[in-house]
Amino acid sequence: MKKALITGISGQDGSYLSEYLLSMGYEVHGMIRRHSVAQNQDSRINHVAADMKIYYGDLLDPPSIVRAMSEAQPDEIYNLGAMSHVRISFDVPSFTIQTNALGVLNMLEAYRTICPKAKFYQASSSEMFGNSVDKDGSQRLTTPMNPVSPYGCSKVMGYNLVRHYRNAYKLHACNGILFNHESPRRGVNFVTNKVIKTAVEIKKGLKNKLELGNMDSYRDWGHSKDYVRAMHMIVNHETPREFIVSTGETHSVRDLCQTVFGKLDLDYRDYLVQNPKYMRPEELKYLKGDSTETREVLGWQPEYTFDSMIDEMIARWESEL
Ligand code: GDD
Repeated sequence: MKKALITGISGQDGSYLSEYLLSMGYEVHGMIRRHSVAQNQDSRINHVAADMKIYYGDLLDPPSIVRAMSEAQPDEIYNLGAMSHVRISFDVPSFTIQTNALGVLNMLEAYRTICPKAKFYQASSSEMFGNSVDKDGSQRLTTPMNPVSPYGCSKVMGYNLVRHYRNAYKLHACNGILFNHESPRRGVNFVTNKVIKTAVEIKKGLKNKLELGNMDSYRDWGHSKDYVRAMHMIVNHETPREFIVSTGETHSVRDLCQTVFGKLDLDYRDYLVQNPKYMRPEELKYLKGDSTETREVLGWQPEYTFDSMIDEMIARWESEL
């Protein structure tokens, strides 16, 4: 029986990844942070919590990492824990850099000391590219990284540390550079789920406006369930290396609103209010990932489309609200 240790197990990706690994017979261990609202600690993993071993821990608390790694003795480590909200990273830049960069270092140090034979996956991000786009309108492994947020800067540091530890200590450590990925479990302060939840609330007469920031940025939006399968393939590829995970399609925030409201027979323009509060000091304008190599080398294919993902997210709010 293979053993996996997941940081950030209570997040969107952590919850889908733990379900996926459990379905393949893994023994799953996970780290969660203490939260003052107890149910927020594990609301996404409650249904599978009894099948896993959960530890309190924090990426900035090396003793907790050492304890979890020593007890779990994992074959695979997935470092998904992070301060993952780009706009909020401008408000808490120091915390973001510490958690997402120093936190990776703490994980790597514990890994090389306690279980160096394990395989290590780092959740790297397309936010690392910033506003770099290749001439053909895509980002790929060779695209320069010019991050435009504390979050992006922190992720570049984590990415580089993983490469450095792989080379210096001959570890099986990999980076998955994942473009945006969503699902019904997405936090409601990320744009997809915010737009979808608000649209359903408007349809049901519970709200009368949608407050957003920048409407003209483009994102390559995939589904978290498809992307956690890619994480498992990346870490189990014979050679530890970097891979891009993306759909290869891009949509603006405006397109997203049009599609979501259109599916509910509404016109988003009747409800949209632009609020400067949601604008970022520097914006990443355009993302479209080229994952051709990942599909060829790993045989990975997404199952969801932009439309089927939105339908699933609408259905969640229609049944819940
Ligand atoms: N969150 C949010 N809220 N975003 C808004 C809003 C709003 O009210 N209005 C417009 N946007 C725009 C943002 O300015 C951004 O251009 C786009 O919607 C997407 O924002 P998010 O959904 O917050 O995601 P993100 O692209 O900043 O970051 C996500 O993707 C990264 C991968 O590229 C996060 O999941 C990161 O953790 C991840 O690394």
